[in-house]
Parts: sequence; C-alpha cells; structure tokens
Amino acid sequence: MPTLTSPLDMRFRPVRLIRSLFMIVLILFVFLNLHVLMNFEPNNSDAYDRTLLYKLRHSNNLKAHVQTDRSQLQDLDGPENSSKVEVLILPNQYNQTFVSRHNIPEHNLTQIKLEIDRRNADQYVHNLQKYGLSLGPESVVIVVQVHDRANYLKILLDSLRKVKGIEKTLLIFSHDVFSEQLNSIVETIDFCPVMQIFFPVSAQLHPKEFPGEHPNDCPRNVKKDQALKIKCNNANHPDKYGHYREAKYCQTKHHWFWKLFHVFDQLTVMKNYTGLVLLLEEDYYVAPDVITILQMMNHLKKKDKDCKDCRMLTAGNYDKTQSYSINSGKVELGHWISSRHNMGMAFTRDLWKDIKKCTSEFCNFDDYNWDWTLQHLSMKCIPDKVKVMKMKATRVFHIGECGVHHKGKNCQPDNKKKQIETQLQSNKQHLFPNVLSVGGQSKFKLRDPKPNGGWGDKRDRELCLSFAKGQG
Ligand SMILES: *[C@@H]1O[C@H](CO)[C@@H](O)[C@H](O)[C@H]1NC(C)=O
Ligand SMILES: *[C@@H]1O[C@H](CO)[C@@H](O)[C@H](O)[C@H]1NC(C)=O
Ligand SMILES: *[C@@H]1O[C@H](CO)[C@@H](O)[C@H](O)[C@H]1NC(C)=O
Ligand SMILES: *[C@@H]1O[C@H](CO)[C@@H](O)[C@H](O)[C@H]1NC(C)=O
Repeated sequence: MPTLTSPLDMRFRPVRLIRSLFMIVLILFVFLNLHVLMNFEPNNSDAYDRTLLYKLRHSNNLKAHVQTDRSQLQDLDGPENSSKVEVLILPNQYNQTFVSRHNIPEHNLTQIKLEIDRRNADQYVHNLQKYGLSLGPESVVIVVQVHDRANYLKILLDSLRKVKGIEKTLLIFSHDVFSEQLNSIVETIDFCPVMQIFFPVSAQLHPKEFPGEHPNDCPRNVKKDQALKIKCNNANHPDKYGHYREAKYCQTKHHWFWKLFHVFDQLTVMKNYTGLVLLLEEDYYVAPDVITILQMMNHLKKKDKDCKDCRMLTAGNYDKTQSYSINSGKVELGHWISSRHNMGMAFTRDLWKDIKKCTSEFCNFDDYNWDWTLQHLSMKCIPDKVKVMKMKATRVFHIGECGVHHKGKNCQPDNKKKQIETQLQSNKQHLFPNVLSVGGQSKFKLRDPKPNGGWGDKRDRELCLSFAKGQG
C-alpha cells in the first residue's frame, strides 16, 4: 500500500543520508590531512591552521564538518625537528666587544692587512645583544659577496630590511675590498645579526703583484713564442685560447671559493650548522618572502618524491616576464644550469662537502667564472649531478645587470629599484603563498660547458687550491 511505504522510506532515508555524509567527510578529512602534510610552512606554529583555513575558504565542498585540531596534525607529521637548535647565543649574553678601528689610511696596505686578519680572527657578530642567535636545520644564513659598489649595497640592504624573519638569520658580508665607506654602511645595519669577513688574498692588498697585476705579467694578447722571448711571468701558461691572465677578472672566482671555505669550515658560529646558506651579491634585490620561500622549498624537497635530490634551491630567475598570480607558489625541477640558476642559490653543508671534494677540478678548470666551473663539476665530478628546485616567480632581482653589459636609460640603480618595488607592491597579495607545489620540469639539458678560458695561469690554480688547505 502506498500509504505504508512512505513512512518506511522516511525512516530509512536519514540513515542513508548520514552514512553517505559520513563517508564524504571521512574521505575529505583524509585528503585534507595528506595535503597539509605535504605542504607544511615551517617556522610558524599557525601554519597548519592557516593552510586549513585557506582550504576551507577556497573550497565549496568543505563546509563545517571537518574538525581538525593542530595537535592531531602535529602527531601526523612525526617528531618535530624544527626546535632542534644547533647554534644558540641568547640576547644580552654575548660578551665580545667590537673593536672598531676607523681612520685606517686606505693607502697603508700593511695596516689594512692587519685589520683584516684581526677581524677575520675575531669573528665578531653585531647586534647579538639585541637579537641573540638561534640557528637550526630550518634556518637560512645569508652570505653576501661584496666588491666595491656602495650604492648597490645600500639598495640590497633596503630590501633585506623588509624580509620577514630577517632578525632570526645571520647575515654575513664577505668583502674583497676593505673600505671605510663599505664598513660604515654595514655597521649601520640594525635589523639582524651581522658579521663581516674579508678575503685576505685580494687584489687591493696586492696591487703590484699576484693576485693583482705584476709589472712583468704577460699582456693578455701576446703570442706565446713572443712571451717566452720577453720572459714575462708564466709565459708557459696561457689559457686554452692562448691568452694570458687578466687580474681584474680572476678575483671573483677566488673570492667565491674562499668565502665558502671560510663560512662553512672556519667560522666558529657555523660549526654545528646544517641549515641553508643563501648566496647573494651586492647588486641584488630580494623580495620580502625570500626566507619564508626558501624554508618552504626546503620542506617541499623533503616531502616530494621528485625533489628529494634537489640539493640546490634557487630563489631567483632571469625571466623577462614574471607572473606572480599564476606562479607565486610554483617551483620547477631540473638540472642546475649556471646561466639560469645562479641567482639566489641556497644549499646546505651537504652539497658543499661534495663541491669541496672536487676542489682540484674547480681550480684547474680553465674558466674564470665560478658558475660555469660549478656546472662543469656537476657534469664531471659531483655524484648524481646537481639538481635544482627553482622558483618560477623570482624572489631575487639583479639590479646590477645593466652595469656591465647593458647601457640604457633605465639602468640607473635607483630607477631599477623603483621598478622592482612597484612590481612587488602590485603583486603583494601573491607573495607569501600558502603552499608550494611542483609546476613542471625544466627542459634544459645539462651539458659540460665549453670553458671560457682566463684561468690558465699556474698561480691562479695554486692560490685556488690553497683555500682547501685552510691557507689564505
Ligand atoms: C630529524 O632529524 C634527524 C637528525 O638530524 C633526522 O635523521 C630525521 O630524519 C629528522 N626527522 C624529520 C621528520 O625530518
Ligand atoms: C656545537 O655543539 C657542541 C656539542 O653539542 C657544543 O658544545 C658547542 O657549544 C656548539 N657550538 C656552537 C658554536 O654552538
Ligand atoms: C661573560 O662575562 C662574564 C663576566 O664578565 C663572565 O662571568 C661570563 O662567564 C662570560 N660569559 C661567557 C659566555 O663567556
Ligand atoms: C703603515 O702602518 C704601519 C703599521 O701601523 C706603520 O708601521 C707604517 O709606518 C705605515 N706606513 C705608512 C707608509 O704610513
């Protein structure tokens, strides 16, 4: 009878409805947990909640049924390592005092050398009274290679000042020119712990001898038989193109290599450190989320099966057009290619150990560019090659790119800075993405680069090798 089935149906329907609702909620719950697990934002105890909230807000399917609390999620993520501290100096517990010697005459190289050696030995860290220092596996230490362009350095500092989490990092400046002007710029930094180190075998300290230019050095373009006849220095060692060394182009590679030895192996404060080291140069500009992004990349690297061996993280790229709305949270994987992935590189001691094992290849490869040399190592010496994870929307900009090779009216550093700041401002809502995900593989093939030369002189090779022995 129709009138009897109707109440029966009414009784069954809610049960079925509840059962299917329960199943849906269960499936969504599992899916969501997996998602959160794979996209953890480090150093932020609210990260889980934020990711969840974001998902809840942005999905029509997830209404109010999903109840997740943070402690549960943390259990799922296994033992937390982020609290592991490798370097700890509490604020107000730093006893060392900074001995500032100003008015060192710039022409008295003896005095500059003494001062450089003293400062390298002291390893003084500024601003520890205020910030202390607590570094662990999730930290990012920043190392800036500085030559002599004070106006660029100031612009870089303006960008670093705005970086989220900068007060928790250690900012190291590696100088190959000792100058009052540069030192006083660095000493004004009040937003994070700061250390200066000085490349001791610099051209500044050796203006008339190696590694500067010796009066008897062979001119670049002299032919070898002629060079042998006039008995200029190292006439027997032109580069593979028959050219002799040009002092002004050789320093950068020496400095780059020395700096890594010094930072990883000589600085007391870095001895126990296993986290990321980000390499910058004086003419860069960084986005405010650069540290956060690197920490997220480092985490994604550990979680994603495709990136476990991406030992190089690159926060910058040179793409002409940048789409933050589409690519802000996207990374690309591939082999590390020097010309594409050399800006905003970050890696840990783990990769450094492998680079160091290739010291002889590094120092004997006939190319004065450190980055081409590194690509050569990746191809010929470093086990499994160097794989990179790079940001598709750049977090590092090269202000100085118009300095050397390009000359245009937009090449004033201050104009370039304004351009970048406008770009970042108009993409503000896309910075600090909630999650990072892999958005493709780089299609560029790794090949052994053809050496550019400029590194044929025996003296360069020997100096380079000496850094590995803790000399210099
Ligand atoms: C925690 O750290 C230890 C030692 O550094 C490491 O072996 C382990 O894999 C880490 N665990 C997680 C979940 O990252
Ligand atoms: C490094 O770790 C050792 C052993 O845990 C500790 O004694 C030492 O103080 C640490 N060094 C620094 C600079 O934190
Ligand atoms: C700092 O100096 C005080 C006295 O000047 C001394 O008692 C203390 O042990 C020092 N601390 C460290 C970490 O060297
Ligand atoms: C340079 O400084 C050193 C050490 O202070 C001093 O002995 C020397 O006389 C100075 N030389 C010149 C040329 O001023």
